[in-house]
Amino acid sequence: MKRQRVLVTGGAGFIGSCLCEKLLDLGNDIVCMDNLFTGQKDNIRHLMDNPYFEFIRQDVLEDVYVECDQIYNLACPASPVHYQYDPIKTGKTSVIGALHTLGLAKRCHARILQASTSEVYGDPEVHPQPETYRGCVNPNGIRSCYDEGKRMAETLFFDYHRQHGVDIKVIRIFNTYGPRMRCDDGRVISNFVVQALKNEDITIYGDGNQTRSFCYVFCDSDYWMHLCKNRFVLYKSIIDFAWL
Ligand SMILES: NC(=O)c1ccc[n+]([C@@H]2O[C@H](COP(=O)([O-])OP(=O)(O)OC[C@H]3O[C@@H](n4cnc5c(N)ncnc54)[C@H](O)[C@@H]3O)[C@@H](O)[C@H]2O)c1
Repeated sequence: MKRQRVLVTGGAGFIGSCLCEKLLDLGNDIVCMDNLFTGQKDNIRHLMDNPYFEFIRQDVLEDVYVECDQIYNLACPASPVHYQYDPIKTGKTSVIGALHTLGLAKRCHARILQASTSEVYGDPEVHPQPETYRGCVNPNGIRSCYDEGKRMAETLFFDYHRQHGVDIKVIRIFNTYGPRMRCDDGRVISNFVVQALKNEDITIYGDGNQTRSFCYVFCDSDYWMHLCKNRFVLYKSIIDFAWL
């Protein structure tokens, strides 16, 4: 089979670096693009000597020119502590990053996948959320830069498909955890692990009755590979995904 040229934006991040690894193992030629805001070279250091792996330090807000057959658009800070650091930049990263990568997909006739999020449901009134649920999102709160940015990115993906026939995939990732998660990102599993390692009490917010769907990152990558063979997928969780 012909070696596919794959662009992974946000490829030096927690999930992106696992995805790059997996895509390389499958015999692809990878360009990893990242501005290293939350990603780290250490996450991809073990891939640097591979002749089929290339790292480009670049922001997705700049024009993206990479000849490719597939694009995985993961560039975006994902934890509240990081996406609230510069909320305007976070919104731009989702929206302009989507425009740049979709423009590239259109020009190269590449298949493109968007890493969306369960946060597009906002503070949902329905549990668990079916893909038909439209969400309950605050447009002007401190999380809106991320939630609304990802919603607009989804809109752009579907409009590029309807208007230009671009082959898209949108997956909504729920809380993912695993190796290379930053211990300072404030997410629930990393908080638990860090507190446990420090022999501190484990903090549960609220009344403890809240529910979350968790996904281990390598399962995530395997599922992504599987989903990429098919068209139009919204992916909710490790055991619950639906075909449009
Ligand atoms: N981890 C989760 O539970 C989860 C849940 C839902 C969605 N997602 C999405 O998956 C993707 C990856 O998340 P992650 O958990 O690996 O987070 P992460 O912060 O480790 O990875 C994001 C990567 O994007 C890079 N980046 C950020 N802004 C950029 C920009 N403007 N230009 C280029 N690169 C940029 C960062 O440096 C980092 O390497 C994100 O798009 C996130 O929204 C993750």
